[in-house]
Amino acid sequence: MSRVLTGITTTGTPHLGNYVGAIRPAIALSREAGNECFYFLADLHALIKCEDPERLARSRLEIAATWLACGLDPERVVFYRQSDVPEILRLMWLLACVAAKGLLDRAHAYKAAVDANRERGLDPDAGISMGLFSYPVLMAADILAFAAEKVPVGRDQVQHIEIARDLAQRFNHLYGGGETLLSLPEAVIDERVATLPGLDGRKMSKSYDNIIPLFAGGERALREAVLRIVTDSRSPGEPKDPESNALYPIFRAFASEEEADEFAEALREGLSWGAAKVHLIAKIEAELAPLRARYAEWMSRPERIEEVLAEGARKARSIAAPQVAAAEAAAGLRAPRLAPAPLAKKQAQTGPRLKQYREADGFFFKLEDGAGRVLLRGGPFADPRQAASVLARLKATRHLDAESLRLLAEGVSAAEAEQALASLHDG
Ligand code: TRP
Repeated sequence: MSRVLTGITTTGTPHLGNYVGAIRPAIALSREAGNECFYFLADLHALIKCEDPERLARSRLEIAATWLACGLDPERVVFYRQSDVPEILRLMWLLACVAAKGLLDRAHAYKAAVDANRERGLDPDAGISMGLFSYPVLMAADILAFAAEKVPVGRDQVQHIEIARDLAQRFNHLYGGGETLLSLPEAVIDERVATLPGLDGRKMSKSYDNIIPLFAGGERALREAVLRIVTDSRSPGEPKDPESNALYPIFRAFASEEEADEFAEALREGLSWGAAKVHLIAKIEAELAPLRARYAEWMSRPERIEEVLAEGARKARSIAAPQVAAAEAAAGLRAPRLAPAPLAKKQAQTGPRLKQYREADGFFFKLEDGAGRVLLRGGPFADPRQAASVLARLKATRHLDAESLRLLAEGVSAAEAEQALASLHDG
């Protein structure tokens, strides 16, 4: 089982580029056996960029309806709204307290905003909120509250995952005492997923004003947008370069390889741009028309979307709550005995461990297997250096000498202990 998690910032209206680059692949991922998916509406992140409450609410509804219409199955995916999970914000504060300000100073989004201010001769921090500055800390909390292993994101988000790993490591180092309290996520970038070009051939993006809407405006808006795709002035019958504009790359994103080859060949043989656009519209429509009908259905019943999200939040909180409570307890905010036990952490528990500890009568060490069963035990030593030197010898050998054999715990074979030592070496 892999725990996959990703957030969807709820600003704007989804376009074809979002569909091909994020929505469709994420839904495909959620249908693969062995993935346990958490997809959420990052409305707290959206608040950083959007101060218009109505637009924020509208956009959240549209985006939730879009994902549901495109096939997100709330039985398979824990689908929730970030602001419905207060544990995320509690963890965010713990992380903020271990985050070096200098680390966040180097985050791309903040740095870009500072650079833009400098260029315009403004105060470097003009118009920059603490929300924007803390963006990566909130994102780290999103991920770490769920012990997510894989985070599918675009390339522009890789630095944020690095920051999440960094904060988890600092937290573990400070409070974990060798345990993995927060496990380290990995960014997943799907190389096969296309970045869709927009009407003018540059990457499709709202900021370039070159998008093709996904559902908004219906078939008509889609058609109008495709007809506006910029082409050259070659007339019907003249050979055309399929790579010279956005038509062919968009066609390819909706067609089989064979169909895409045929399309390219037809252009090379002189298919008119007009006819090519008609083909393209039909190809996109074949995939989107049924989804658009479902979209309209979801949009007409916002209370059903709310029900889905409420159920998602309930599931999400049942996972995040013990995880965050364990982190709080480790940081000293609560008595550990009162806090729920830490989640069974694969990373922390799979391998054997050598531990040194102190008791009233001296210094001890023990070797435990992944399940916490004691394999070897040494001590008491009056002097910690003695214990350390025996430990060092154990760590250096793969085969137990006679002296080490005496340290075997009851019911443990030498082979078992040797195997644990060997995996300490290899790990
Ligand atoms: N910052 C992400 C984006 O703009 C959205 C996001 C918020 C996210 N929290 C996340 C993505 C956690 C992955 C994991 O695309």
